Amino acid sequence: MSTLITNIGELVTNQPDEQAGGAGFAAVADAAMVIDDARVAWTGPASRAPAADQAVDAAGRAVLPGFVDSHAHLVFAGERSAEFAARMAGQPYRAGGIRSTVAATRAAADDQLRANVGRLAAEMLAQGTTTFECKSGYGLTVGDEARAVAIAAEFTREVTYLGAHVVPPEFEADPAGYVELVCGPMLDACAPAARWVDVFCERGAFGRDEAAAVLAAGTAAGLQPRVHANQLGPGPGVQLAVRAGAASADHCTYLDDVDVDALASSSTVATLLPGVEFSTRQPYPDARRLLDAGAVVALATDCNPGSCFTSSMPLCIALAVREMRMTTQEAVWAATAGGARALRRADVGHLGVGASADFIILNAPSHTYLAYRPGVPLVGAAWRAGALARN
Ligand code: NIG
Ligand code: FE
Repeated sequence: MSTLITNIGELVTNQPDEQAGGAGFAAVADAAMVIDDARVAWTGPASRAPAADQAVDAAGRAVLPGFVDSHAHLVFAGERSAEFAARMAGQPYRAGGIRSTVAATRAAADDQLRANVGRLAAEMLAQGTTTFECKSGYGLTVGDEARAVAIAAEFTREVTYLGAHVVPPEFEADPAGYVELVCGPMLDACAPAARWVDVFCERGAFGRDEAAAVLAAGTAAGLQPRVHANQLGPGPGVQLAVRAGAASADHCTYLDDVDVDALASSSTVATLLPGVEFSTRQPYPDARRLLDAGAVVALATDCNPGSCFTSSMPLCIALAVREMRMTTQEAVWAATAGGARALRRADVGHLGVGASADFIILNAPSHTYLAYRPGVPLVGAAWRAGALARN
């Protein structure tokens, strides 16, 4: 069954061969799109649209690729609103807060964790996210990490093993022993359900050599690397990510020139998570410096109970535009095609012919409204693989 979406005020395709705007962003005005068999079959001016089995009138609204949220920690129990309130009263963010979520997560039943992921995934879809990545990292025992990746895999194919999130309390005196566990039995238990391996490379979490060992072990087990890098201060994370051929270095808040050059001359995507800086009162990453150097930039939420409890890609776009001086086109590209690059996915993040028909209809005439009307629920409908997923 083919469907014609017609009367589209602005169709964001991210196909650079069309009317190119910002980096990779492209859109067609007064457009139509035909979807067939879960894929995009045709895009172009509405006046030239071919016939289809059924038609949907977009009534002049904007159609965009669904957001690709390439960084989220959804498998957890409990919450840390008191920590957030303390931060807003002047306390700094500390990586150690992760341990309180670890305790709550270990104590939770499988169904409770599953229900939490389901609730957050529904929130994401309601805000236009049609593809998301989901990390483990709040279990930190072999059994608890294995169940985290298994539950994540019920909701997404982009599952990340993050046994190296922090050293859990029972290994406080033996961090090397914990790294051995992460690289050995825990990895063996998690690798079958995961696609990615991640490590929090930061003072207070894992240093360069430990992080390198985790990425090497994960890669040897068939996983692809990505890194939490340079979030809380300068450090070796970005260099490590680039050397390991990671798909993405995430956070990138504290970069020096060598880090920026390394990202710009590699295929490692710089994934920026401005919700974190909003929620921790840290300085925002310097997106302009990365973009102007030629790095590929993605935007993601980092949805987690500690550093940033938003599931909203529109919020991240608005922050990227207002606070990080990305253009509206750059921000929308980063939240769609950029996220897809960070997940090494060619089938999502754009609406070129052959792409998965994952798209959203905004209750607005253009993508600009995502930043122009911050905080307003503009996503009117979300389609995934050619089917209406949320109206
Ligand atoms: O990406 N940086 C490490 N992990 C998360 C924070 C997790 C937490 O505070 O619970 C992050 O910010
Ligand atoms: Fe994170």
